Amino acid sequence: MTTKGTSEQPLNTGRDRSYSAYDRWLAEQDVPIQTGYYVEDAREIKRGWWALRGCPAAILNLKGHEGVTEAHVLEIPPGETIPPFRMAIEDVVYVMEGQGICTVWAEGHPKVSFEWQKHSLFRIPTNYYYQLSNARGGSSALTLHISYLPLAMTTNSNPKYIFDNPFVDTGELYGDESGFYAHEARAVKRANGGTEWYGNFFPDLTVWDKLEAYGGDGRWAMGGGLTFPNSSHRPGLMVLPSRRYRGAHRHGLGVTIIGIQEAKGLVLMWPPEGGPDDVIETPWQEGSVFVPPNMWYHQHINTGGTENRQLRLFPPRPIMNYSMYDPRQYVPFVEEETWVKEKFEADLAKNGLTSLMPDEAFTNPDFKFPADFLTKD
Ligand SMILES: [Fe+2]
Repeated sequence: MTTKGTSEQPLNTGRDRSYSAYDRWLAEQDVPIQTGYYVEDAREIKRGWWALRGCPAAILNLKGHEGVTEAHVLEIPPGETIPPFRMAIEDVVYVMEGQGICTVWAEGHPKVSFEWQKHSLFRIPTNYYYQLSNARGGSSALTLHISYLPLAMTTNSNPKYIFDNPFVDTGELYGDESGFYAHEARAVKRANGGTEWYGNFFPDLTVWDKLEAYGGDGRWAMGGGLTFPNSSHRPGLMVLPSRRYRGAHRHGLGVTIIGIQEAKGLVLMWPPEGGPDDVIETPWQEGSVFVPPNMWYHQHINTGGTENRQLRLFPPRPIMNYSMYDPRQYVPFVEEETWVKEKFEADLAKNGLTSLMPDEAFTNPDFKFPADFLTKD
């Protein structure tokens, strides 16, 4: 098995057809661009002044973003407020460090402010101005932003359309009587009996306790049911309990996955036709970001003594390839290569822990996971 790290590769400046409007725009940005398959800790990557945002920043253009989604980090210096910004697509913001105020408004309309903290998640609707302020005088705040900018630039390649577009649906922020950025999410029952929680502001994802089991056939985890109402973005909070792992699966590109709490673990990912030498091992800790490339297998492994929480921001649903028939969407544990479980157990042992995976799951194709699989200790 080999491990491939990250690198700051030069952008393609040639004339090949894969060179997109987003790539052209990116080449003009005066900001560090991080490429590769993952970043170990997005709080630690090199940042530099970004004129577009008027603050230090770094763009993540990882292999799995592949022209559909993007992520970037903004640094708000101690006690400062960065310039107002708007764009003609939604902006999803996750707070990696710090505490501050976000002020959102449409031109000629009242400003709406709310206070965010480390582990907050919120959504800025299309073409609303917003401004971020750091409420602390002694340390920088770091925010991670996720958007469909590369995809949007394939439908209209003029950056002015994206960054200088006056259209605003004022009904979004001002038409919500319960408060667009209300701290309390609203419960909405799904047809299958589960619950979705509607909100545009989730103050702290690490204490979110409205969790329900989901998955099946060795892919069990707890999910948070987070939903941005009337949004093109679908967030997901996944909680994987200690000393367990999920079977490998694959889908379309563009899912940005962020480790949001102190934890120990790893993610394995490999191309569909790949062998053991093609496996990329991604550390999974707070601040880790990885994006599985198109149809690459990946699996989440928790080798620590605490639960692992991760936030996922999905691309538009058709890009996930859910509707495509894929007989190999999942790798059953009975067909898994034996080194995966061996590595899991060896990493657990380094942490003084032992596996809570049932041995029979790896030998009996008809094995049914017990109801307490996710909760037993
Ligand atoms: Fe996945």
